[in-house]
Amino acid sequence: MTPRAESKHPEIGAGAAPAGAAETAGAFGLDADPILFSDSLRMDFGGLTALDQVSLTVERGSITALIGPNGAGKTTFFNCVTGIYKPGSGSIFFLPEKEKRISLGGLRPHKAAQLGIGRTFQNIRLFNTLTVLENVLIGCHARMRAGLWGALFRDRKTMEEERRMTDLSYAILERYGLQARVNDPAGSLPYGEQRRLEIARALASGPSLLLLDEPAAGLNNQETLELADLIRHIRRDEKLSVLLIEHDMSLVMNVSERINVLDYGRLIASGTPEEIRKNPDVVRAYLGEDADDLG
Ligand SMILES: Nc1ncnc2c1ncn2[C@@H]1O[C@H](COP(=O)(O)OP(=O)(O)OP(=O)(O)O)[C@@H](O)[C@H]1O
Ligand SMILES: [Mg+2]
Repeated sequence: MTPRAESKHPEIGAGAAPAGAAETAGAFGLDADPILFSDSLRMDFGGLTALDQVSLTVERGSITALIGPNGAGKTTFFNCVTGIYKPGSGSIFFLPEKEKRISLGGLRPHKAAQLGIGRTFQNIRLFNTLTVLENVLIGCHARMRAGLWGALFRDRKTMEEERRMTDLSYAILERYGLQARVNDPAGSLPYGEQRRLEIARALASGPSLLLLDEPAAGLNNQETLELADLIRHIRRDEKLSVLLIEHDMSLVMNVSERINVLDYGRLIASGTPEEIRKNPDVVRAYLGEDADDLG
């Protein structure tokens, strides 16, 4: 995937900005400092267009939501960002720092974590028979420098690194209230704690962008309220940006500064929670589900 000549965000990152770029940025509601943006992203599965010319932006330091009815293309967007799918056309850029722009097209999945993109999955993907601590240690892997040599011969540097990662894992588990569970098999945890553990594991890789795919699915009202607090704390304490896919509109409206709405693979709206709640296209897209959900 190469950046398209008619890119809608030519002013971002390294390289000279073409004339008219400022107006283009304004037209797309783009502020000065995105951490991620896609430009005319398209993904087809056979005859089905899951993403159709999707151009959206996540501002650095923001909590941004990606919402839309079932099958709208939300998870497909995450899979394109993390290299699980290779988009048919268009581009995605990640800017871990303001002046550093990395094209994510065709990325190998393990590279996304190394670059600083952490994610959780719609259907929890933990190693159920491994302990809570081991699950978080696996999340640390993206930070580790030891290669096959270190793993086989366990030299001093490797041992030190492993000790550092174990300390870090304990610290993360303590910060996110799972310290009493370190030696329990992940599969034995109640559902809400499994969701929290998945977030802790994603944080262990030290991401600057955290992608959460329906983190409130299966949680009760109290757990969902706690999750809202957790997401805000993570953003502040870990100094990262969050892109959140969620069907629970109370959570979305509660934590997001900006909301993007997909419907049948197209971005139909992007704005503040207030703007999205009043947007007639969004209300129409949700009518098939429950328009009252928009709050
Ligand atoms: N690997 C795949 N092969 C074929 N079709 C796929 C594949 N992945 C996704 N799709 C299709 O692409 C469309 C978008 O799917 P996606 O999972 O991105 O939706 P979603 O917005 O995450 O929905 P939900 O809210 O139900 O999770 C759907 O029609 C889905 O069936
Ligand atoms: Mg999904």
